[in-house]
Order: sequence, then C-alpha cells, then structure tokens
Amino acid sequence: MSLGAPAPVCVGDYEERAREALDPNAWAYFAGGAADERTLRANREAWNALWLQPRVLRPLAHGHTRVELLGRTLAHPLLLAPVAYQRMAHPQGELGSALAASAQGAGLVLSTQSSTPMEEVARAVRDDTQRGPLWFQIYLQGDRGFDLALMRRAEAAGFEALVLTVDAPVHGARDRERRAGFRLPADVSAVHLHGAPPLPHGGELCGGLLQAATQWDDVAWLRGVTRLPLLLKGVLHADDARLALAQGVDGLIVSNHGGRTLDTALPTAWALPRIADAVGGAVPLLVDGGIRRGTDVLKAVALGARAVLIGRPYVLALAVAGAQGVAHALRLLRDELEIAMALAGCATLADARRELLFERPGSLLGAP
Ligand code: FNR
Ligand code: LAC
Repeated sequence: MSLGAPAPVCVGDYEERAREALDPNAWAYFAGGAADERTLRANREAWNALWLQPRVLRPLAHGHTRVELLGRTLAHPLLLAPVAYQRMAHPQGELGSALAASAQGAGLVLSTQSSTPMEEVARAVRDDTQRGPLWFQIYLQGDRGFDLALMRRAEAAGFEALVLTVDAPVHGARDRERRAGFRLPADVSAVHLHGAPPLPHGGELCGGLLQAATQWDDVAWLRGVTRLPLLLKGVLHADDARLALAQGVDGLIVSNHGGRTLDTALPTAWALPRIADAVGGAVPLLVDGGIRRGTDVLKAVALGARAVLIGRPYVLALAVAGAQGVAHALRLLRDELEIAMALAGCATLADARRELLFERPGSLLGAP
C-alpha cells in the first residue's frame, strides 16, 4: 500500500491524509456539512459524551461480532453508507468501495447518485460468498415511471434491499461548498439520473423544488411495488418512526445525513434511544453520523442499533488509497470493536445494553 509512513492506525489518520490528497473542491464536498456544521460536529461529540462502564472477569472465550440483519447473519455490524460521486474521491470510485466492503464482509449501500452504474458494482461483488448485504439507496425523482424503472434495475442487478432517504428533500445550505466554489468535475456525474425528468415547477418554498419532494404516500407506493425489504434513512423523531412502522417498513436508519442537510438537527446518538423505545424491537434500527471508533459502534449497539453505517471514514480512505484504503479502514474499525467488546466485558453484541453506558448527570439519556 502506498500510504507513506507512518501508516494510518485509525480512521482519523485517513481523514488527515485525505485533506492532502484531495483538491479543495472535492475536500469541501466530502468532508463538509451544512451551514455552521454544528450537527456535523455534534454527531461526534455526542458519541464522545457517552462513557463506557466496563464489566470485568466475564467469560469472553466464545465471543464474536456477528449480528442478524434482515434474515442474514453478518460477520460484524458495519456497512458503508450511500455516498454520492465517489469517482471524485478516487478513480476506482464506487467499485473500489464495493470490493473493499466485500473483502471485509461489510454491507454496502449504493447511492442513487453513484458515479458508477449499479450493474457494474453489483456484478463485481454479487457472487462473493463472504460479502455483506448489498443495498440500493433511493432518491425519488418525482416521476413514478422513472422511479419504478430505477428500482426494477436495482432488483434485476441483485440488490437485496432498498433504502429510501427521507431527510434531503433539498440540499442543505452548504456554506463550505459555496466558499470553495464547488463544481463536479466534467468526468463525474450521477449516472443513474441521466435522462431523469425535469423537476416540476410551482409552489413558493425553495423555488418550487419541493413539488417533487417525497411524502408518506410515496413510501406506501414504494412498499406496494417492490418485494425487497424497504428501509427509511434519515429518521430522527420517534413519531416518524411510528408512522414508518405503520407503513410496513422493514428497518429504519437513524441519521441526520452526516450533518449535511438540516444544520442543528440533533445528533444521532441522542435520537437513537428515543427511537429504539418507540419501535420496541419491531424492526431493526441502524444508525450513522460521526462513527469513527470501535467504541462508537459499541455505544450505538448499546443504545439499540443492530448495525451502523459509516460515511466519511471510508470515502476519505478511498481518496487516500482506493479499495485498499477502504478495506484497511474497515479492518481498523473491526479490530477496535473487538478490543472494545473484550475490554468492556461483552462477549457478543447482545451483551451491549444501556447499562454499559454512563453519562454525566444532567444530560439527556435518561435513567438506564
Ligand atoms: C452522503 N450521504 C448520502 N446519503 C444518501 O442517502 N445518499 C447520498 O447520495 C449521500 N451522499 C453523501 C455524500 C457525502 C460526501 C457524504 C459525506 C454523505 C450521507 C451518508 O449516507 C451518511 O448518512 C453520513 O455520511 C454518515 O455520517 P458520517 O459517517 O459521514 O459522519
Ligand atoms: C449529499 C447528497 C448527494 O449529501 O446526499 O451530498
């Protein structure tokens, strides 16, 4: 690996390297968030504000990191979150990320705004027996004919679940991107959206863009037209989690889009236990936002997540070293998770419950 010396020892090291590897344009896009980036920072601070209360002298010999998710047993609870335009990070783009995920048994969620065709990505990893789940993320385009065709393509290519992102009816106020004068390079585009219908006009908010914004009846429609499991990504409110259950969704991803959409939206570590209480185990919960350490993964599981997604940690590792960087970043997080479990006295992830967590009096987690 041409990583230079010393080699990265944690995903934060990749972030530092990526700042040097990427031009300011791409760095603003991949690393930045919305407006004052309060949510971007708060996601990480919220995991850091939780402390572990380890248990000692427990039997650990038969420990493992396996989890059950939508009828499959996964080697560990890490998935790569949908991230747009990965060929702007590295020429290998989404293909590099997919190969790395597969090699590490991690799940992969491919973005609607992928810069590599979904069939190419699926073909590269579909038949690998060690791979994790292969899911497709959907942004509805406000035209059911187009949306249905995209979904059928994903089904035919071998994607095993659909993830409808619901927290981005419009772009956030991306101050950092605007300061950098962000533009997509000429050779990178959202290949699945070539030929997408023009956005309808009318309405006053956001210059009419919201005429096409996804609503609950679109979730019902989607639920009715596909047999694939359907997850909603971007839920932060317990009432929305309940509405989603009523629509028959198969899973929820607690997310604030990594602080890229609504700035000052609450950190996901705070939303997660409330949603876990509302859902009561009816469907699996996943979470993302600011997960940078194996200890963060353990805390997320203790708060009720079945699995976690990472965004920037892998796409910045991709920028530094392509597929090898992504595979290494995943391996680092897996190693950290195993060490955290052993040192906290958790032989399996089922042993990570809220009693494992300690927070300073006066904060928001509530009594265990
Ligand atoms: C994203 N995210 C995202 N989400 C989505 O549903 N579709 C998408 O196309 C994208 N694109 C995207 C681009 C970039 C550059 C980033 C950083 C993020 C959000 C992503 O799936 C995830 O929710 C966050 O990245 C998680 O936060 P961390 O791990 O980056 O802190
Ligand atoms: C973003 C969009 C693509 O976060 O989801 O940039």
